[in-house]
This record gives sequence, C-alpha cells and structure tokens, in this order.
Amino acid sequence: MTSKEGDLSPHYPNMAAQTDAKKTMPKYIKFLFGGLAGMGATLFVQPLDLVKNRMQLSGEGGGKRQYKTSFHAVSSILRSEGIIGMYTGLSAGLLRQASYTTTRLGIYTILFEKFSKNGQPPNFFMKAGIGMTAGAIGAFVGTPAEISLIRMTADGRLPVAERRNYSSVFNALARITREEGLFTLWRGCGPTVSRAVVVNAAQLASYSQAKQFLLGTGWFRDNILCHFFASMISGLVTTAASMPVDIAKTRIQNMKVVDGKAEYRGALDVLYKVIRQEGLFSLWKGFTPYYFRLGPHTVITFIFLEQMNRLYRKVIMGEEGTGSSL
Ligand SMILES: *[C@@H]1O[C@H](CO)[C@@H](O)[C@H](O)[C@H]1NC(C)=O
Repeated sequence: MTSKEGDLSPHYPNMAAQTDAKKTMPKYIKFLFGGLAGMGATLFVQPLDLVKNRMQLSGEGGGKRQYKTSFHAVSSILRSEGIIGMYTGLSAGLLRQASYTTTRLGIYTILFEKFSKNGQPPNFFMKAGIGMTAGAIGAFVGTPAEISLIRMTADGRLPVAERRNYSSVFNALARITREEGLFTLWRGCGPTVSRAVVVNAAQLASYSQAKQFLLGTGWFRDNILCHFFASMISGLVTTAASMPVDIAKTRIQNMKVVDGKAEYRGALDVLYKVIRQEGLFSLWKGFTPYYFRLGPHTVITFIFLEQMNRLYRKVIMGEEGTGSSL
C-alpha cells in the first residue's frame, strides 16, 4: 500500500481526487528539481570539495605532502587564498550539478517508477542497477564540468607561474577545447563513470534501503528526520567504497601532458603508483572532507528534492499525500 493511495482515498472519495491521484509529475520537472537540489547543496559544500581535491593531489609522486591533514589544508588554504579562495571553482561545481545530478536523478526517478509494480518499489538489486545506470549516464554528461572543477580547485596549490588560471567554468571549457582538443573534456571519463557507478549503487540503493529499514522499525515516519538518518547511513557506505576510484579520477583529470607524455596511463596506473609510492591508505586521502561533503550534500540534496516534490504535489497537483518517489 503506498501512502498515495492510502492517504488519499479516505479523505477524498470523489472522482476528482481519484483522477488527481493518477496524475504524475512531468518528467522534465523531475530533472529540473534534481539539478536544482544538487546545485543548492553545492553552495554549502564547495569548500569541502576543494579541500578533498587538494588532499588527493597532496604528496603526488611520493614527494613531500603539501598538506598533512585536512585541517592543515583548510588553515593553509585560508591563510594563503582567503575565504573566497575556498570557493574557487564554484561555477564548475554548479555546472557539474546542473549536468550530472539533473541527468542522474531524472533518469533514476523515471526508471524507479517504471520498475515499480502495483505500488511496490523495485527490490534491492533492481534499485542498485537503476542507480548505477542513472549514475553512469549522468557522469558521462557531467565529465567536462568535472574536469574543469578538478583543475580549478587544484590551481591554487601551485606556484603562480605554473597555474592554469581558468577564470570560470566556461573559460575552462573553452580553453581546454582550444589548447588540448575537444576530447580532453572527457579525459578521465572512465574513472568518472566508474566512480559514479560505485557512488550511485551505494548511495541511491542504500538511501532507499535505509529509509525503508527506518520506516520498518516503526520509530520513524516518512519525514525530514527519517530522510536525514537515511542519508547519513548512505553517505558512510558511499565514501568508503568510492574514494579509491575518486583519487584516480582526480589525478588523471589534473595531470599535465608534457611533450605528449602523460603522467598516468590510466586509472589502474594511478592506483598502482599511489599504493607503491604513498602507501595503501593514501587511496583514502581526503576521507574527512569527502564524507563531510558527501553526507551533507546527500542530505541537503534529498531534503531539497523531497520538499520540492512535496510542494509541487501540494500546490500544482492539489494532493495531500506526502509519499515520495525515492
Ligand atoms: C597564470 O598567471 C600567472 C601570473 O599572471 C602567469 O605567470 C602564468 O603563466 C599564467 N598561466 C597560464 C597558463 O597562462
């Protein structure tokens, strides 16, 4: 029994309400809400993304680590680049959400409903598959914004003369295309897509699963508190699983190709070199900012999304039910 059917019929036994209940949200609205929710969340967590990227690049090649801990990174970035410096690459972060999250959540929502039978959500493995498919397609669409984001957030750690100086994400996209060719926009596409598959399998499936579990305990209702805890659990699983793929992505997208010679041949080469030169646990460099980015990003995204969906159902569709589609 979904909350939609369960809540509506006793209160609105008339035909008009019955028709309303069958109306669904237009698909483009789902895409739009997904992207907006992600962009809203990015405004809060952009600095953490910057710190994570700096940590992942720190000590590259087995040299001296630029930052010892994430706290050291934050204080040294604040000192040398200021508060504004923490928001470097914001335009790329926003475009990344607009492209990646819009596509991913839109496709996820559509597939989720397609594979729901008689109000029963798809099973765990189905949800994981849906999450992975949506994530992979979203990541491919989002790769150009992603490489811009990595390079912009990485820039400030270099001596002035070695910087790339992209002024905004649009400048980054234009210059990468002009200086390195159109296909460079999709450099690191492999690990970007792999990372998204891991993240989305873990995140979207564990979110729905955690929410169903929390509701099943009888201690929670389908409200913000439940969404909050479900997201926190989901974030922890996702961070641990996806960091090694993420560091490969970050380093490949940031690398410079000098005289046709690339620093890394591919994702496996990054993993091999990191483990050999910096130690196994370096694969999880930047765990703290990553979790504190991912957790709240997930929380804020889903909260925005659930609220926008609810408001839309209430205002546009005149529904009282609060059932969500995720
Ligand atoms: C970035 O700006 C600095 C200082 O103006 C300059 O030295 C450097 O060459 C610039 N980088 C590029 C790629 O133009």
